[in-house]
Amino acid sequence: MTQRTAAALAATEPIHFPDYVNHAKARDWIAQVIALCKPANVHFVDGSDEENARLCDEMVASGMLIKLDSALRPNSYLARSHPSDVARMEDRTFVCSRERDDAGPNNNWVDPVQMKATLTRLFDGCMRGRTMYVIAFSMGPLGSHIAHIGIEITDSPYVVVNMRIMTRMGRAVWEVLGAGGEFVPALHSVGRPLKPGEKDDLWPNNPDKYIVQFPEEKSIWSFGSGYGGNALLGKKCFALRIASVLAREQGWLAEHMLILGLESPQGEKTYVAAAFPSACGKTNLAMLIPPKAFGGWKATTVGEDIAWIKPGKDGRFYAINPEAGYFGVAPGTSYSTNPNAMDTLKANVIFTNVALTPEGDVWWEGMTKTAPAKLIDWQGKEWTPASGRPAAHPNARFTVPASQCPSIDSNWENPDGVPISAFIFGGRRSTGVPLVVEAFNWNYGVYMAATMGSETTAATTGKVGVVRRDPFAMLPFCGYHMGDYFNHWLQMGHVVENPPKVFCVNWFRLDQDGNFLWPGFGENMRVLKWIVERVNGRVGAKESPLGWMPRYEDIEWTGLEGVTRAQFSELMSVDAKLWQEELQAHAELFDKLKSRLPRQLVLKRELFGMSLWH
Ligand code: GTP
Ligand code: SPV
Ligand code: MN
Repeated sequence: MTQRTAAALAATEPIHFPDYVNHAKARDWIAQVIALCKPANVHFVDGSDEENARLCDEMVASGMLIKLDSALRPNSYLARSHPSDVARMEDRTFVCSRERDDAGPNNNWVDPVQMKATLTRLFDGCMRGRTMYVIAFSMGPLGSHIAHIGIEITDSPYVVVNMRIMTRMGRAVWEVLGAGGEFVPALHSVGRPLKPGEKDDLWPNNPDKYIVQFPEEKSIWSFGSGYGGNALLGKKCFALRIASVLAREQGWLAEHMLILGLESPQGEKTYVAAAFPSACGKTNLAMLIPPKAFGGWKATTVGEDIAWIKPGKDGRFYAINPEAGYFGVAPGTSYSTNPNAMDTLKANVIFTNVALTPEGDVWWEGMTKTAPAKLIDWQGKEWTPASGRPAAHPNARFTVPASQCPSIDSNWENPDGVPISAFIFGGRRSTGVPLVVEAFNWNYGVYMAATMGSETTAATTGKVGVVRRDPFAMLPFCGYHMGDYFNHWLQMGHVVENPPKVFCVNWFRLDQDGNFLWPGFGENMRVLKWIVERVNGRVGAKESPLGWMPRYEDIEWTGLEGVTRAQFSELMSVDAKLWQEELQAHAELFDKLKSRLPRQLVLKRELFGMSLWH
């Protein structure tokens, strides 16, 4: 339903709400946003196929979307963003708690009163000449007791069609919300008002960008960016930054984790959840296909980016994937690295910043061994393999419904979630960090996850490939002080009777020539099998200063050429010099967090240091 409002919409102008929008607080908020942003039209998104088709057609007509060839990639589109708007921007992301120390040194902070003043000035009239879309969405299966509802108001039709894939949204959500249900208000604008008759940009945005969370009020304001996690506010802003605050208040966990099911040939199912920083392999691991030698083992996908985890009555943790789609990294995805993703992407996809083939299909680095002779690159320019620049942006992404994934788990929409038996933490480390280690116990596992380092990737703006501490892969996503977050994790080990075992992995270790020492991808199943068997108490390990490690004979090697005993020792070696430096980096992290750092972790560091010396 679209309503035309008066040009500079007078505050007295009546707003025509659809009959299913009968939530008084939501109506008030929407009216306030209209008065502030002054859009030309207001459209309540119902989520129907017709509405989606019309929005896509309009974007094709305006040039914002390119329709791909209907035979090669049915019902799929390509969007090209502005070259300055290609990833999350951590330096423009803020957590505005009342007290600075509540946001912690892990977040940018501005006083909320001051930030509201800045944002109010920026949002004033920011939707002039545009349609304002109102999207009610559910994170988690509709009506599940673990799910939470949000309302995103945006002036980007690209956001609307992406939110339709990434969340359950539209009229059905308004019906669940009813007249008094709780919702998180999430306001988004590309920040590019149009003068009467002015031609729009292909990717409207504003050089001044703000991605802001108000943790006490549980609200989100995002200005100036139309890309990914900056604009699809259900994802990082809600399901991680705001949800992590809710989780701490209510006694659960909101994590940057994939959820994977592993079924043995005997039909025994074990679910694991794994945290890796952005562009470090969650999607790949979540969709892994066990190698042939693992005849009878099945791997199934519950989620590939975010997990909401609650303690169950039976003394175990239960996890749901709050999302309904994948916003995954395209470069590096191929039939050899991730066949399930390739099959998921056959139709109904929105690609952003990949290259276009002359046949009207898509391509990105790593999709095929040899690049096509001619392409149009992600910036719309002609490209050949001799161009000397990537054809797709390194953070090019696809948006696709989870239901299309061939490995989707039969419980992926179970409102009660799936029981988690192990937590796995991994970073991208080219040196020194072994392939896999099992923590001695829960608290030690919290220490390992808290001190995890990883090399930065193109998923966020800034320098790529520098090691930084990324505790729990949550550095850009924790909506409060990281010291309090560590404490919350320590506490959560006591709320369930049987806390999951904790493991650390590293697929990214390099040899002297810069080649990966570990084949990775599907072969990661060899490590997962050891993890599952450790959980079920069926396989051995040896003690090391870092934790329990598999011996060569504890890993299933059938069908894998190339990893010799010597190479395995190299993969598992604990480099004394590097670990001294690591310990120093742990100390620096702890020093930054000291005002809220649990003492338990300081003691663990000392113990760990002593064990390294022996
Ligand atoms: P976000 O969506 O940004 O949170 O990231 P993600 O963790 O889902 O990242 P994704 O799975 O898309 O990671 C993609 C990158 O990881 C590509 O560069 C892959 O080549 C690389 N990658 C994934 N799995 C492996 C692996 O087992 N070994 C190696 N060497 N690289 C891997
Ligand atoms: C990430 O950067 O971890 C993502 C992509 O999953 S975005 O949603 O853009 O943050
Ligand atoms: Mn992510």
